[in-house]
Amino acid sequence: MYNPPIRGRTAAASFFWELKTMSERWTPDSWRNKPVVQMPAYPDAKALADVEAQLATFPPLVFAGEARNLKKSLARVAKGEAFLLQGGDCAESFAEHGANNIRDFFRVLLQMAVVLTYAGALPVVKVGRIAGQFAKPRSSPVEKVDGVELPSYRGDIVNDIAFTAEARTPDPRRQVMAYRQSAATLNLLRAFATGGYANLASVHEWMLGFVKGSQQSRRYQELADRISDALNFMRACGLNLESHPELRATEMYTSHEALLLGYEQAFTRVDSTTGDWYATSGHMIWIGDRTRQLDHAHVEYFRGIKNPIGLKCGPSLKPDELLKLIDILNPDNEPGRLTLISRFGSDKVADGLPPLVRAVQREGRVVVWSCDPMHGNTITSTTGYKTRPFDRILSEVKGFFNVHAAEGTYAGGVHLEMTGQDVTECLGGARAITDEHLNDRYHTVCDPRLNAEQSIDMAFLIAELLKQERAGKAQPLPAAAGM
Ligand code: PEP
Ligand code: CO
Repeated sequence: MYNPPIRGRTAAASFFWELKTMSERWTPDSWRNKPVVQMPAYPDAKALADVEAQLATFPPLVFAGEARNLKKSLARVAKGEAFLLQGGDCAESFAEHGANNIRDFFRVLLQMAVVLTYAGALPVVKVGRIAGQFAKPRSSPVEKVDGVELPSYRGDIVNDIAFTAEARTPDPRRQVMAYRQSAATLNLLRAFATGGYANLASVHEWMLGFVKGSQQSRRYQELADRISDALNFMRACGLNLESHPELRATEMYTSHEALLLGYEQAFTRVDSTTGDWYATSGHMIWIGDRTRQLDHAHVEYFRGIKNPIGLKCGPSLKPDELLKLIDILNPDNEPGRLTLISRFGSDKVADGLPPLVRAVQREGRVVVWSCDPMHGNTITSTTGYKTRPFDRILSEVKGFFNVHAAEGTYAGGVHLEMTGQDVTECLGGARAITDEHLNDRYHTVCDPRLNAEQSIDMAFLIAELLKQERAGKAQPLPAAAGM
């Protein structure tokens, strides 16, 4: 594979520091010698060690070859030849592990991918925040309600959301439950992807019942008609569509924030075909915005595994720090290895993103640029709910495309918190969800997600931006930062 050369950097001190870090021996547990943040305090160290030892004997969830295939697809995204669609729950939960949930998510992501593929006339790489997206970083280690203080909820893999001392105590046995749930979810996803459900000839049937009759539904039906026409035309020309696996099946990859390093270590396995270490808890894993400290445990763990990885880039990330992180995480400048997921907020993206993009360009680093328009746009509604306005989410995506158009780089993907369910968690969208509606179906255990209709709506809006990007037409720059 062609790896573009990395141009020299100047500061000798930082060079030697990086050299030292990179020359230190990496092992699946070398992260344990580094400072670490956002890890739960388990009261029983022996019980935790026993669970981790047990997990290490369990079968991997994914195969290294699949992770390599995803990396190849992401290398195409880095070159501007494909688009990354990554999305799913903020946090999966044990309570909502039903087949309908998984199916509804799968088909909404499929619909969005169809919308984007059609508009951009390019392949869409589908990556779910699913089958392992359980552990959550928190802004405070404790939560206080009516004068009572308890440990914060850190995701079902760690503790229970109920506000009692017992529920909130981290319990390692939950890691086994999360593993089993991930395996079952992945099994169904694989069945849907390859078992006929994702056949493009079924494009009309993916429409969700509760979205029918909406403006999105009409737009989607029109698109589905055009796809059916195209397929019929090809058939009439004598093409045997059944012989094309690309039309009969699809690829959907899994991803999660690899926060709980003991769990990740247990699923870090040597790939027998290459001798390399892979995280086998999911195809792609990412480092959160709160755990990307250069000399800390999460960066240490990630540098040793060969999967495609993501790095969340928030407003506090300085260009120089980003370059150091890239040196450590992708020293060979391998295309597809590193996806930078910017999450600035709609009011900060226009000023915050360009310095990062310029630094990466200047140093000749190959990355995928993706936009998480969710985590910088969280507000509290007048009715007390944690929510996100649809317009702000869209505004950050537009800002992201604008920055890349202005810098001559490629806006390669989006990273969304979304569900296939008809929830009321984010404000706005075609059905104009208001503060008063949030109470109706607010189901998330963590951050607010786009519902199915809002997700399809967002896909059509992103499709327009993608079309303009492909046509080489820059959007006018926003007058004010927020647009
Ligand atoms: C997340 O993706 O759910 C998350 C916590 O994001 P970030 O690390 O960007 O805050
Ligand atoms: Co979130």
